[in-house]
Amino acid sequence: MGNDAHASKKGSPSGAMRVPFLDLGAQYHSIREEIDSAIAEVIRTSRFIIGSDETKFERAFADSHRAPYAVGCSCGTSAIYIALQALRVPKGAEVLVPSMTYIATAEAVSVAGATPVFVDSEPDTGLIDFDAMKRAVTPRTWGVIPVHLYGQMVEMPKFAAFAKERRLRLIEDAAQAHVAECHGQRPGALSDAATFSFFPGKNLGAYGDAGAIVTRDQAMAHWMRQYRNHGRLDKYRHEFVGFGFRLDGIQAAILQAKLPHLERWTERRRTVAVRYRTALTAAGVRCLIERPYNRHVYHLFVIRHPDRERLRKVLGEAGIETGIHYPIPLHLQPAYASAGHGPGSFPESEALAREGLSLPIDPEMTDEQVDYVIQQVCAHV
Ligand SMILES: Cc1ncc(COP(=O)(O)O)c(C=O)c1O
Repeated sequence: MGNDAHASKKGSPSGAMRVPFLDLGAQYHSIREEIDSAIAEVIRTSRFIIGSDETKFERAFADSHRAPYAVGCSCGTSAIYIALQALRVPKGAEVLVPSMTYIATAEAVSVAGATPVFVDSEPDTGLIDFDAMKRAVTPRTWGVIPVHLYGQMVEMPKFAAFAKERRLRLIEDAAQAHVAECHGQRPGALSDAATFSFFPGKNLGAYGDAGAIVTRDQAMAHWMRQYRNHGRLDKYRHEFVGFGFRLDGIQAAILQAKLPHLERWTERRRTVAVRYRTALTAAGVRCLIERPYNRHVYHLFVIRHPDRERLRKVLGEAGIETGIHYPIPLHLQPAYASAGHGPGSFPESEALAREGLSLPIDPEMTDEQVDYVIQQVCAHV
């Protein structure tokens, strides 16, 4: 626990305890020397782009997912795009994506020239609904991108068996699910590729944008490494037209310094989640569930409440910051109006968009803060 987490008690107008949604400053202070010396080393050696730091991080990140290859890149959005390009997604092909996710999942498909086809979500987990996904398959379907939403994996053995049977490509959007497990396996074990974001607020976060792709396919990893770096073979020769999607050296060094702490942070998130779930469920609050075969890594802890706006407001007044992930499902975003889905098209995603409320679950939270959140939620539901 960072000592500075206690500083969060100050600053609420009412004098009540303050619980920030995320306290990246507290995390930094708890590992300050490691981060500062990692950054200083990059500057000292001028290894700003694709230096040895990045190579080291790629190896370490692959190991953390028990995978043979990881390829660093500029962010979680480019990670999905690079994986789609590596798998040669045809122009105009249909790719199934959940309607309840961050827009990047669908955007990468659109920018690659394919068509995202939205699928409704499960009410109890928020994950893409497997049966609805099966029904959405057409002769034009090329692949599926399930999202391990909030830090919980979809049931990958089921998705992988279905993809194999129907000859579909399978890319896991694991932007929120570093070191999550499903039936003991981590993202990347059963798919063509798993993509990660290291956006600062993610469970493993950089100090800027960064991402990675994990795969078991050596040729694919080799191609992606070249593609993200202008199709380069060496300094002056470009084998094919790639693009500039590199991971920068400072971000790689920061991620490398943070990675050894990820398991501890993840366990702290899981401990807080158990506390929340036990107390809130007993008080009649509806919490999204963790499937028994999963190791949910609780990027977000989401509850559902029919009067979410009121609850959010009173918690805010009590000094507790909350989040909404996500208030507008993708099929109702103006960006995807051309898909022609009106309200009611994907009712479960829409209900979750109305009712879902993310409680703070920062590993730096003190037990006192966790209890305060529980007490305030129970007092106002
Ligand atoms: C599910 C999901 N996919 C993709 C992304 C995109 O990641 P990035 O912001 O690093 O591009 C995010 C991150 O916000 C995400 O939550």
